[in-house]
Amino acid sequence: MKITVIGSGYVGLVSGICFAKLGHDVACIDKDSAKISKLNSGVIPIFEPGLKELLDEVSTAKKISFSTDLRQGLQGAQAVFIAVGTPQDSDGSADLSYVLAAAKEIAELSDSAKLIVTKSTVPAGTGAKIKKLIAATNPKINFSVASNPEFLREGAAIDDFMNPDRIVIGCEDQNSRKIFAEIYQKFSPEKLIFTDIVTAELIKYAANSFLAAKISFINEMADLCEIVGGNIKQLSHAIGLDSRIGEKFLNPGPGFGGSCFPKDIMAILNIAKENNVELSLIDSVVSSNKHRQIKMVEKISDVFGGEISGKKIALLGLAFKANTDDIRYSPAITITKKLLEKGAKISAHDFEAIENSRRELAEFKNISFHEDAYEAMKDADLIVIATEWKKYRELDFSRSGTKKIVDLRNLFDAEEMQKNGFEYFYIGGKSC
Ligand SMILES: NC(=O)c1ccc[n+]([C@@H]2O[C@H](COP(=O)([O-])OP(=O)(O)OC[C@H]3O[C@@H](n4cnc5c(N)ncnc54)[C@H](O)[C@@H]3O)[C@@H](O)[C@H]2O)c1
Repeated sequence: MKITVIGSGYVGLVSGICFAKLGHDVACIDKDSAKISKLNSGVIPIFEPGLKELLDEVSTAKKISFSTDLRQGLQGAQAVFIAVGTPQDSDGSADLSYVLAAAKEIAELSDSAKLIVTKSTVPAGTGAKIKKLIAATNPKINFSVASNPEFLREGAAIDDFMNPDRIVIGCEDQNSRKIFAEIYQKFSPEKLIFTDIVTAELIKYAANSFLAAKISFINEMADLCEIVGGNIKQLSHAIGLDSRIGEKFLNPGPGFGGSCFPKDIMAILNIAKENNVELSLIDSVVSSNKHRQIKMVEKISDVFGGEISGKKIALLGLAFKANTDDIRYSPAITITKKLLEKGAKISAHDFEAIENSRRELAEFKNISFHEDAYEAMKDADLIVIATEWKKYRELDFSRSGTKKIVDLRNLFDAEEMQKNGFEYFYIGGKSC
């Protein structure tokens, strides 16, 4: 099937390349001509493990094209996926301007029947808005609207797309259902969960809110462990063995970040507010997570009796999580900014996120960026681990000048670190 994907960011690019791998003919469209030029030269503009290899494979098979020209991209396509950004607006709601602009362009430029699908995360009711907009823009076009929210995680995106727990499809007619069945024919039919459009839109927000709540829950348990002397690693392992709870998302840390959870949780609160529904549990997750990064800065400052002005801190990790270059709402970035505002000097390291961080932190003077973690740790007064890159486990910290480590990701065994002479502070346990 010929498929058009609008937006070649983290979701659109992975989806487009994976659709091509599934055997479809895919036209990937983006407004950003620099991005499209890179893709046409075989360069992936983001960091995502395995994506380059898969792009090479589907490009050689001539299953994919990249262009800024939507009119051309729409020709012969049966399904059009909208995968543009839905960032947080100033009032917390999802900014739908990119989605609606893309829908309008599809209506203006289509000359044959289309199934128009939102892959972007959008509030309940967006499908109906798109339907109205398209009908008003081009009354002649024969179209259906559907929702197919994406659940991939950056860093594991290909595997998540190709081996999904489920594929949620909100649609309202048999023909749309048939088209989806063809698009996803390589997956077992039990994976396809058909719902109405509003429910599909809500499922994405509900899933992200639940996961965010799980993270905040274990962070609060970690706080309790610190005070009463419990061991958070043992606690999360033991509760995770209960199949009703499950072991994932039970690692305490500096709070959730990234391009999805913070904005999606605000968006669902906004949907609830507009409809006079109280979501007090989700409300408290927002405040718990907001307080989290302030608490992390206090934890770091406490190493020096509360005064960090003039201290040199080697900050390991800037991405919002491991295996990505994405720094949107990264806790590491928020913590870095707060430390800099308190007068600390930061020497920062990340495996993939330096370029993005340099731009984000350009206004700050007392920060240097290092490709080499040992360079970052040179002459530091303290090492802070802020992102859970596995490769940090391989570092020889005895090569750094300091014996003080604050590990916000609990990468190491506390007893082992103490035995090796480190003053090791971690989340949810007694400091050594
Ligand atoms: N990043 C994730 O891990 C993830 C996971 C699941 C769902 N989502 C959702 O998917 C959506 C996209 O997220 P993302 O992280 O891929 O965003 P992104 O910012 O990385 O990419 C969006 C792309 O859309 C392009 N674009 C915007 N308007 C356009 C238009 N009219 N025509 C063509 N291109 C256009 C932009 O240039 C950009 O390249 C969001 O709604 C997000 O919430 C993201």
